[in-house]
Amino acid sequence: IKIYADGADKVGILDLYAKPYIQGLTTNPTLMRKAGVKDYEAFARDVLKTVTTKPLSLEVLSDDFAEMRRQAEKLAGWGRNVFVKIPITNSRGESSVPLIRDLAAAGVQLNVTALLTLEQVRAVVGALNPEIASVVSIFAGRVADAGEDPVPVMREALTILRSQPKSELLWASVREVYNLIQAESCGCHIITVTHDILAKADKMLGMDLAALSLDTVRMFSRDAAEAGY
Ligand code: E4P
Repeated sequence: IKIYADGADKVGILDLYAKPYIQGLTTNPTLMRKAGVKDYEAFARDVLKTVTTKPLSLEVLSDDFAEMRRQAEKLAGWGRNVFVKIPITNSRGESSVPLIRDLAAAGVQLNVTALLTLEQVRAVVGALNPEIASVVSIFAGRVADAGEDPVPVMREALTILRSQPKSELLWASVREVYNLIQAESCGCHIITVTHDILAKADKMLGMDLAALSLDTVRMFSRDAAEAGY
């Protein structure tokens, strides 16, 4: 599985870009807002001065399909490693599939984003260009938030995507370190992980569970003592 870093904090992006185990980067408007990005173009172009050899996904912002197309073409022009993120619908719930079909036919590298259902995967797969690399991002964490197991969804999505050999399935909206294990075991091509969960994975992955249990007990004991209980 390829691990991408999901975030919009420039220092974090550049730090993770330099790490060999990070094979790409993703961002989205919510992450940019949280990171305090004021000027999207300035931010993206600045990041792209350093991020030149690994894929970087940048999302269109408009709700209007004609404007989304213009933005997609503009974003694609900022770097050969840019993947343009197109949400599966606009915020009125209208399907982006016709736009995805046109952009894919024009050779734009796409990351189709915010998918939660297999029906959406089926609609997208027919619109992609078999000659052009693309990414299909299923928000597995949001599927799990809704009380459904994302693993069978991802497995079935992989089967559907077999007809598009240049398309990769991305496990998005990671909630915990264990999602890395799940995504790998179900055969996802990519997982994008927020900077904080990457740091947690670095520290915790493979940790001895008895030692972790002892840390937990010590935390309770320290907090009780510090609170004066
Ligand atoms: C993926 O590319 C998205 O930016 C991200 O994983 C979304 O995660 P969320 O569901 O936590 O918003």
